[in-house]
Amino acid sequence: MELSVGLMIMLAGGVLVLPVLAFITSFLFWPGALLKAYNWYLRRRQGLVVRYSYNGSYRFCYHTRGKPGGATPSLLLLHGFSASKDMWLPLVKYLPRNQHVVCVDMPGHEGTSRTSAKDYGIQGQVSRIHQFVESIGLDKRPFHLVGTSMGGSVAGVYAAHYPAHLSSLTLIATAGLVYPTDSKFIRRLKEIDEGHGGNSVPLIPTTVQEMEDMAKLCYYNLPKISRQLLRGLLNNRIPNNDFYREVFMEIVGDKNRYLLQENLHLIKAPLQVIWGKEDQVLDVSGAAVLQAALPSCQEERLDNCGHSVAMERPRKAAKLIVDFLTAQAKKNS
Ligand SMILES: *[C@@H]1O[C@H](CO)[C@@H](O)[C@H](O)[C@H]1NC(C)=O
Repeated sequence: MELSVGLMIMLAGGVLVLPVLAFITSFLFWPGALLKAYNWYLRRRQGLVVRYSYNGSYRFCYHTRGKPGGATPSLLLLHGFSASKDMWLPLVKYLPRNQHVVCVDMPGHEGTSRTSAKDYGIQGQVSRIHQFVESIGLDKRPFHLVGTSMGGSVAGVYAAHYPAHLSSLTLIATAGLVYPTDSKFIRRLKEIDEGHGGNSVPLIPTTVQEMEDMAKLCYYNLPKISRQLLRGLLNNRIPNNDFYREVFMEIVGDKNRYLLQENLHLIKAPLQVIWGKEDQVLDVSGAAVLQAALPSCQEERLDNCGHSVAMERPRKAAKLIVDFLTAQAKKNS
């Protein structure tokens, strides 16, 4: 559920640099292309390289920096519904330069193969991520897995199935739980189920207005965004909307919706939980559910923060993860 709203935050927040200003002028009428160019620019500036790996003819796209085998384990980051590996760019910026980090496009998203529904449910995604891990040899030593929202559900179920692969696990505003309190988003879904108020899913915008509503749903503090930027974000999403609907139906279906909850008892890896207190997509009461099931977990609830933690508070989220990794590494040495 992390969109590329991070970009508009950065653009709107005045982190503009000259080359980007040039882009803005030339792409004024192609705002979607501008956003893609800006991601490309950020990746370069942060020293991230885009790579591909394969399982048979299935292709994974990821970006990475650093080498495995440092003082802390490798980091694998799993993004949320309808986002891409680039949603992690703001967070990666605050990781130590020598930290080995891998951000992968989830099945069907961006550069990773788009196949069929069997790869889109949580279990299907876990199998694909497992193939990805093997395809780049990340399983040679235990790594730290981070997942947010839908990616959190995948990360948690992965931890339950492949405990030997992981040194530890971070779940950020994760999906897949039975939340004691309904969020605004869940209330909206229930209304749709009951046949009130149309059938447009708030996370699959089709107009500029719906795009803005989604951004507001995902952020607590959303800076002012120009219509031009909203248009760009929307233009990049619209060609994927049928795919997003297909994924969405899978992950909210009976087999998947609570799959993480059902697997919690199998998680052995040390767990860190991060959640924005003002999350309107998946209620922060989910953190207490994890705490009850896994009492030794380390829980961090962030004030004035919504669902898109990694984009709204990238510096804080990066620091929490690095501190957790460092503490775990000390414990094990
Ligand atoms: C694909 O992944 C599966 C599961 O990890 C593995 O058994 C198989 O060897 C892989 N195939 C290829 C062609 O890499």
